[in-house]
Amino acid sequence: MNCKKLEQYPNVFLLPQTNQLKALLTIIRDRTTKRPDFVFYADRIIRLLVEEGLNHLPVVPKKITTPLDIEFEGVGFEGQICGVSIMRAGESMEQGLRHVCTGVRIGKVLIQRDEETAMPKLYYSKLPLDISDRYVFLLDPMLATGGSAIEAVRVLLRANVPEERILFINLICSPEGISNMTAAFPKIRIITSEVDECMNEQKFIVPGLGDFGDRYFGTN
Ligand code: URA
Repeated sequence: MNCKKLEQYPNVFLLPQTNQLKALLTIIRDRTTKRPDFVFYADRIIRLLVEEGLNHLPVVPKKITTPLDIEFEGVGFEGQICGVSIMRAGESMEQGLRHVCTGVRIGKVLIQRDEETAMPKLYYSKLPLDISDRYVFLLDPMLATGGSAIEAVRVLLRANVPEERILFINLICSPEGISNMTAAFPKIRIITSEVDECMNEQKFIVPGLGDFGDRYFGTN
């Protein structure tokens, strides 16, 4: 899969804008799309994103023998990965990661806006014990201001995950979110399927798809 780099952001990777991807995004953006279809088609995009994320992992030479008793010089993944979902919407992406990486360890962080300071605040985190040895797929479908994602990355850095081993997997970004994330953490890779126009006053991405968590989990 050849992923187009956004020119001014060398670590932001946009999925190829194929007709298939455009059609999938159109379905999940459509306000008339019912929940089962929203889940089904969002899951398909998540799968494409996770597959693209795996393309960014290093490989090492690996020699195997085929059933024809012939030695074959292939490659194998060098490191191990884990997922960390930003609750609640990021949890929707866990299944897509599990489908591609069986038995993958998945941590969680809960970050919400502090009513007093209006700043993102960490309420809960549970991470795999060996996370500092792994590549981390940080999962959140919508990158709006970037406040929660930036706080989540701080949690990972405090757990000694090197910045360059973090891949932020995301369906739709706002330009402001990309700008804030890349300014704070230039070495993180952002894998996304779409960069939208802007945010509205309520910090929803425009044109966007509404509240992803509500539509995916049926709480709207
Ligand atoms: N989170 C969402 O679910 N939707 C947005 O538009 C922005 C953040």
